[in-house]
Amino acid sequence: MSPPARPRIVLVTGAARRLGREIALALAHSGWRVAVHYRHSEDDAIATEARCAALSGDSARFAADFGSESEVRALLPRVIARFGQVDAVVNSASLFEHDSAQTFSYARLDEHLRSNTGAPIVLAQALHAHLLQRADAGEVDVQGAVVNLLDQKLWNQNPDFLSYTLSKAALEAAGTMLSLALAPRVRVVGVAPGLTLTSHLLQGKKFEQMHRLSPLGRSSTAHDVAATVQFALDNRSITGTTLLVDGGQHLMRFERDFSLM
Ligand SMILES: NC(=O)c1ccc[n+]([C@@H]2O[C@H](COP(=O)([O-])OP(=O)(O)OC[C@H]3O[C@@H](n4cnc5c(N)ncnc54)[C@H](OP(=O)(O)O)[C@@H]3O)[C@@H](O)[C@H]2O)c1
Repeated sequence: MSPPARPRIVLVTGAARRLGREIALALAHSGWRVAVHYRHSEDDAIATEARCAALSGDSARFAADFGSESEVRALLPRVIARFGQVDAVVNSASLFEHDSAQTFSYARLDEHLRSNTGAPIVLAQALHAHLLQRADAGEVDVQGAVVNLLDQKLWNQNPDFLSYTLSKAALEAAGTMLSLALAPRVRVVGVAPGLTLTSHLLQGKKFEQMHRLSPLGRSSTAHDVAATVQFALDNRSITGTTLLVDGGQHLMRFERDFSLM
């Protein structure tokens, strides 16, 4: 009889609430042990941690502000200290503050680049170093994966959320470079949702109307996005590409961000 497969460990950033939470729960449901990252939403993180633990047998939560490089650099070592190892990172945490060509500032760009681009790269770097150590220690067939949450608006640009869009465009480009630089130990895959969740800027009937604005007549659901993240983590031949999960919204032209249309 072969020994039971050891549980796989995934760090999901921004997992307290919203899409990150749905991704964490879907992965826990299929047996992943989830390290739940959060910044401010501690009560929600405790609830996500409890649900993940009930689904897969173990979970833990980790606070970190991605504006601070030292907090990001400390995060993966904390996860490894708690679980003994880590196999994958899903970068869902994201800053989404409005600016435009008229209000752009270095400060606004810097905070988006730190949270949305720098943190995912540092976490990929740390995962790669960890997997190399495991291979050096004699573990065979060591490979991990990073999934970066992007946005269909990179393929369908409008002038709103300038710094956010730049930070995600840089992350998309980093996905290509990292998939080459960190192979064969780490695969890097982008998942780009369309309009998926309501927000304080867009809800009710207006959200439903915008959600229907796509060739398929419906953009993505949280379930669609989580299922695609799971597929990207499981499929060992995918790297250096992005899966657009948006009902085809990226094929259309929108003059403004959905929340400002
Ligand atoms: N929702 C959509 O319709 C949609 C559409 C397209 C793309 N996406 C992408 O999908 C991902 C998830 O979307 P979402 O709507 O769930 O995201 P969100 O609610 O805007 O943000 C997710 C979490 O990111 C964390 N976060 C923000 N800034 C941080 C920082 N400096 N340090 C650490 N954590 C930080 C926050 O954690 P705390 O609450 O703990 O502070 C927040 O709960 C994002 O990458 C987004 O760009 C979403």
